[in-house]
Amino acid sequence: MPGILQDKSALITGGASGIGRAIALAFAAEGARVVIADIAGDGGRETVRMIEAQGGHAAFCHADCTQSADVQAMVRFTMERYGRLDCACNNAGIGGIVAPLHDLPVEEFDRVLAINMRGVFLGLKYEIPQMIAQGGGVIVNTASTAAFMAGTEAPAYAASKAGVASLTRSAAKAYAARGVRVNAVCPGATETPLLLRRDTPPEDLKRRHAARIPLGRIAQPAEIAQVVLWLCSPAASYVTGLLHLAAGGILA
Ligand SMILES: NC(=O)c1ccc[n+]([C@@H]2O[C@H](COP(=O)([O-])OP(=O)(O)OC[C@H]3O[C@@H](n4cnc5c(N)ncnc54)[C@H](O)[C@@H]3O)[C@@H](O)[C@H]2O)c1
Repeated sequence: MPGILQDKSALITGGASGIGRAIALAFAAEGARVVIADIAGDGGRETVRMIEAQGGHAAFCHADCTQSADVQAMVRFTMERYGRLDCACNNAGIGGIVAPLHDLPVEEFDRVLAINMRGVFLGLKYEIPQMIAQGGGVIVNTASTAAFMAGTEAPAYAASKAGVASLTRSAAKAYAARGVRVNAVCPGATETPLLLRRDTPPEDLKRRHAARIPLGRIAQPAEIAQVVLWLCSPAASYVTGLLHLAAGGILA
C-alpha cells in the first residue's frame, strides 16, 4: 500500500537528532524522500543510515539554519536531489542556558534567537518561493509550549518560540492563496538530548516534568512526529495557521 507521503520530497532541519530524526523516520516510512539538514554531520548521516535500513530514501545536507547562504543551499540541494520541495520542517533548535532574565548574557539571547527564530524565518523565506513556483507545498515549524507561557528559566527560548508562532501565522495567511500551508507543532517536554542535556539526572528531570503533565509522562519524539506527519498529509488539506499543541494536556 502506498504511504501517505508516497513520492513526496521533504526537507527537515535538525534531522540529526531527537524530534527532527523522528520526523525524518516517520516521513520516510510513509514513502517520502527526505533531506536531513543539520550542522551535526555524524548524527545526520546516522539518520540517513536508519532510513536506508528501513528501505527508504534520504540524503544529508550540512546546513547551519542561521546562515542565509546555507539555507538557500539546502533548498537547492533538495531540488537537485529530488526535483521538488513538497514538505519542509523548520525544526532545528536549541534550549540555551537556564538563567533568569537579568543574568542571561546578551550574546546568549542573540544565539538562541538566531537559531530558533531567525532559522525559521530563513527557512520560510527560501522554501516558500520554491513551493509557489511548483504549485504548492506544506511547511511545519517546530515551536513549543514555551510560545504560550512565561519563560522564567529560559526567557530567550520562550521569546524565540513565540516568534516562531507569529512567523507561522504570518506566513500561513500571506501564502494560503498560493497553495502553501504553514503550521507549527508545539511540543511539550519530549525525551531528546535537548531536554536531557540539563545538569539534573535524566530520571529526576523526567519525573519532575511528568508530575505537571496530565498524561503523566513526557513525550517520545515519535509521538511529536505523528502530529507533524498529519499536518503535512493530505488529511490536513484545510489546516493552515494552526499552532498544534502536543503536550500531554499541560495547557488544558
Ligand atoms: N525536547 C523538548 O522537550 C522540546 C519541547 C518543545 C520544543 N522542542 C523543539 O523541538 C526542536 C527539536 O529539538 P529536539 O528536542 O529534537 O533537540 P535535539 O537537540 O535532539 O535536536 C536538535 C537538532 O538541531 C540541530 N541544530 C542545532 N543548531 C543548529 C543550527 N544552527 N543549524 C542546523 N541545525 C542545528 C542539532 O544539531 C540537533 O540535531 C527544537 O526546535 C526544540 O526547541 C523540543
